[in-house]
Amino acid sequence: MMRRPKISIIGAGNVGATCAHWCAASELGDIVLLDIPATGDMPKGKALDLMQASPIMGFDAHIVGTNDYADTANSDVVVITAGMPRKPGMSRDDLLSTNANIVGQVAEQIKQTSPEAFVIVVSNPLDAMVQRAMQVTGFPTHRVMGQAGVLDTARYRTFLAMELGVSVEDVSAMLMGGHGDTMVPLASCTTVGGIPVTQLISQERLAEIVERTRHGGAEIVGLLKTGSAYYAPAAATAQMVEAIVRDKKRVLPCAAYCDKEYNVGGYYVGVPVVLGGGGVERIIELKLTDAEAADFQRSVDAVKALVAKMNELVAA
Ligand code: NAI
Ligand code: 2OP
Repeated sequence: MMRRPKISIIGAGNVGATCAHWCAASELGDIVLLDIPATGDMPKGKALDLMQASPIMGFDAHIVGTNDYADTANSDVVVITAGMPRKPGMSRDDLLSTNANIVGQVAEQIKQTSPEAFVIVVSNPLDAMVQRAMQVTGFPTHRVMGQAGVLDTARYRTFLAMELGVSVEDVSAMLMGGHGDTMVPLASCTTVGGIPVTQLISQERLAEIVERTRHGGAEIVGLLKTGSAYYAPAAATAQMVEAIVRDKKRVLPCAAYCDKEYNVGGYYVGVPVVLGGGGVERIIELKLTDAEAADFQRSVDAVKALVAKMNELVAA
C-alpha cells in the first residue's frame, strides 16, 4: 500500500505554520509541525486547528504538532524554518550566530531521525544556514537546499505584473545569487507571455523594479513591524516541497551546492536547478553576460564572507 509523503516542518512560527497550511491545502502529504518545548502545546494547537479546516476546504492530510523529534522520524522532506526572524533595522546577517546554533541543533536531530530526508532550509541568513545544515547532517548535497530564489522571483513577477497590468501567470523570470540585496535578476530570462520583458518596459523602470525586489523582504518588515514576511515565503517553500514529492522536475531558482558549477568552489548560492524526486537533480549553467557574471561573483563573495564568519562563530 502506498503511503502519503511525510513532511516535517521544524519551527511552527509564522513561516512554518503557513507552510503547513499551503502543503496541507495542496495535499502534498501528512505533516508534522515541530517547535521547541518552550513553546509548549502551541504546535499541537496549530496542527489541530489546521486539521479542522480540512472538512471545509476539502483536503485530506494528517497534521500533528509536537515538541518531540521522534514524531518526525523517517520524514521524506524536512523544512527548517526554526530561528529568529528579522526585526526592523536588523539585517539578515545579524541573525547569523543565533540561527547558526539553532539550525545546527535542528540538523543534528534530523540526521538521527530522518537520515533519508530531503532538507529545505528557510532560516536566515539563508545562504549560510543551508551550508550549516549540510555540514551538520552530512547528507549528500542534492538532498540539502535552500529557499530564497522562488520567493525573490515571485516578488519580481508580482511587481512586473502590477506595473504592466497583466496576469502574474504570464510573467516568468529567473534570478541568481544570494538571497536579498546581492541577488542577480536576469533580464534575458524575464518574459511576459513569451515576450522578452525588455520589449515592454524601459531599462530605467526595470532597474527600479529590480531594486524594489532586492529590498522586498525589508519592505514587508517595515510594514509589519513585528516580524518578517511569511505568506509568500511559505508558499515558495511549499512549491519546492511539491516539486520533490510529486517529482515535478520544476526549473526553479534554489540555493544549491555549487562546486565546479559557475566556479563557485563549494558554497550554496542561488542558481537555476531542476527540482524533482531526486532533489536537486541538475544545476543549469547559464551563459551570463559580463555584467551578470560580475554581479553573480559579487554575490558569491558575499556568501563566502558570511559562511567564513559563521564558521568562526560556531567554532568559538
Ligand atoms: P517566527 O519567530 O514566527 O518562527 C520561528 C519559530 O522557530 C518559533 O516558533 C521558534 O520557537 C522556533 N524555534 C526557535 N528555535 C528552535 C529550535 N531550536 N528548534 C525548533 N524550532 C525553533 O519566525 P518566522 O517568521 O517563521 O521566520 C523563521 C525564519 O525564516 C527566520 O529566520 C526568517 O528570517 C526566515 N525567513 C526566510 C525567508 C527566505 O526566503 N529564506 C523568508 C522569510 C523568513
Ligand atoms: C524575506 O525576504 C525575511 O528573508 C525574508 O522576506
